[in-house]
Amino acid sequence: MKTVLITGAASGLGRALALRFAREGADICIADINAEGSQETLNLVRQAGGQGWVHELDVRSEIQWLQLQDAVQQRWGRIDVVINNAGVATGDRIDAGEWAWWEWVIDINIKGVALGCRTFTPMMKKAETGHFINVASLAGLMKAPSMASYNATKAAVVAISETMHFELMPYGIGVTALCPGFFRTNLDHSMKTSDPDMLKFVDKVFEASALNADDIAEAAYQAMLKNQMICNPHSVGRRAYFVKKYLPFLYRRGVLKMAYGLKKREQQRQSAAQVQQQESAS
Ligand SMILES: NC(=O)c1ccc[n+]([C@@H]2O[C@H](COP(=O)([O-])OP(=O)(O)OC[C@H]3O[C@@H](n4cnc5c(N)ncnc54)[C@H](O)[C@@H]3O)[C@@H](O)[C@H]2O)c1
Repeated sequence: MKTVLITGAASGLGRALALRFAREGADICIADINAEGSQETLNLVRQAGGQGWVHELDVRSEIQWLQLQDAVQQRWGRIDVVINNAGVATGDRIDAGEWAWWEWVIDINIKGVALGCRTFTPMMKKAETGHFINVASLAGLMKAPSMASYNATKAAVVAISETMHFELMPYGIGVTALCPGFFRTNLDHSMKTSDPDMLKFVDKVFEASALNADDIAEAAYQAMLKNQMICNPHSVGRRAYFVKKYLPFLYRRGVLKMAYGLKKREQQRQSAAQVQQQESAS
């Protein structure tokens, strides 16, 4: 039986991945900071005929990762798949929002993934087998304006994964960076932004997604079987990345259009705020 550890499995994509691997008869460690959501995922896994266990984990804590390593060693004595999925979102212009939000998103999205990889690589090396799926985003490949901190963390996850893909291949270990575009989860609930339009935008692109969390989990599973380095599951994401690489003038035009649209909206908001200020002063 495959042993699979999934961070951030209390919700969204992590839960869908848990259910996908449960269908393969895997034993699943649901590792999340949200104990209640983790228990719900475990119940769903069991209802689907699978099995698993919950381990409370804050991916930012090296000590907690070492404790999880001990728990995995005692329970399984090995690990087949580690999915570094836990993540949060930020969305702001470079000169807006709080610096603390940069630190928060970097700690969870980059350091959390790096710690997960560092913790479980020795166990996989010893067994000369295993696979890491690191959940990045299309934002790691395409850099939309007004999302510098989130884009930076996801580009870092792609960089970590590409590095590990080759570094660990001689040890029989596979590594995949999963790069989906937006799809409906609870990611918007944790999103930190000072831009009132950002959540509306996220809601709109969530709705527009042709894929749901189950589809993304299926794509990740198939990519793992092929040891694909980058999995870009949305067809619109694949097209956009193709345009960026091979038709840079079109890419530039599209992103600039977006940037000017954002500038216009910012100016409209500023003048509306000024009018409001004047009205309340008079
Ligand atoms: N939903 C999208 O549109 C989308 C697109 C591309 C990439 N992603 C990525 O998919 C991954 C999963 O996100 P989701 O969309 O399912 O969102 P979600 O909010 O539904 O799930 C995220 C999970 O991560 C957990 N988590 C947050 N901080 C944690 C921490 N410090 N330690 C442990 N667990 C923590 C949360 O409790 C939650 O269960 C993230 O890395 C996200 O960046 C999502």
